[in-house]
Amino acid sequence: MLRVAAPEYPIDTPALIVDAGILLANIRRMAGFFAGRPAKLRPHFKTHKTPAIAHLQLQHGAIGITCAKLGEAEVLVHAGIRDVLIANQVTAPAKVARLAGLAHIAHLKVCVDDEENLLALSRAAVAAGSRIGVLVEVDVGMGRSGTRSAPATLRLAARAASLPGIDFQGVMGYEGHAVFRASREDREAACRAANACLLDHAAAVRQEDIPCPLVSAGGTGTYDISGDCPGITEVEAGSYVFMDATYRKIVPEFATALTALATVISRPEPSRAVIDLGMKAVTGEFGLPQPEGLPGATTLALSEEHGVLELEGPARDLRVGDQVVLLPTHCCTTVNLHDRLHVSRGGRVQDVWTIAARGAFC
Ligand SMILES: Cc1ncc(COP(=O)(O)O)c(C=O)c1O
Repeated sequence: MLRVAAPEYPIDTPALIVDAGILLANIRRMAGFFAGRPAKLRPHFKTHKTPAIAHLQLQHGAIGITCAKLGEAEVLVHAGIRDVLIANQVTAPAKVARLAGLAHIAHLKVCVDDEENLLALSRAAVAAGSRIGVLVEVDVGMGRSGTRSAPATLRLAARAASLPGIDFQGVMGYEGHAVFRASREDREAACRAANACLLDHAAAVRQEDIPCPLVSAGGTGTYDISGDCPGITEVEAGSYVFMDATYRKIVPEFATALTALATVISRPEPSRAVIDLGMKAVTGEFGLPQPEGLPGATTLALSEEHGVLELEGPARDLRVGDQVVLLPTHCCTTVNLHDRLHVSRGGRVQDVWTIAARGAFC
């Protein structure tokens, strides 16, 4: 569906457009799901990296923000956000020191799956005079970071609970392997198994009388499964705010708020148009971004700064200078390629938001 009328845009391309009405509707829909449920939403910042959007999510009931990197946490804290979970490990000595310093200003939580890392966090917090919240990351089937057994989780949790400068807060396990299962039954089964695994680890910790208040899981593809699972206390969904061509097939209840805008720069033959949007402006990670609202146009290829469209039927009317709207296949890796979001209201760009954590992967 064409969300923005491309040719009238007075903005230069390639550019990202956010439809503010759709963005807000997505935020409200997710907030509505969590309202009145025991589990709460701690949305993932990696999707938009934009403090203006994080503040909107907090205004609509989010209990804090999740991020993936210390650099993102710094942007959030400097934007006034005071409850941040880094759902990842922070291990380099210089980063551990930065984290301990930042923990003076905000309630920071970070994930660990290694005892040496935990000890380093404790030493840094003591040296800085701050306290760092810690969750043990559990591998719930994704095969990425995380403890592989409940006894390993318990060992780390017990150590964390005993260390100076550390507040042990719970466990985190993201079921990324379940998210893109095409059938709802498969997704539910994989997600429920992952949730059960995480809850087993939390139970092992509690059995030793160690308080384990936070059990964090979930993403956009599983928000309503993890978010409804008794014992899961918070869900880290990110992409629901923008959506993309991949998630549109999984959670169609959220609408597409983010599109890329490109300009036709060459019409070398009747069936070909070349646009000024290549892989430096849009991801090809989960497939090529396809034109929206332009029947007969298909993206054939992306190179660094060019996209090649194949044209059939009325799409052959495209001329050099015309603008084309495309739907990215992955919003998170597309946003990180840009400095700003052009905010459209009522079909017109009325605002620009800075993607302040763009490139903040250190
Ligand atoms: C740790 C973690 N939590 C949650 C998510 C969910 O993000 P999304 O809702 O964008 O799928 C991800 C996605 O990569 C993740 O890595």
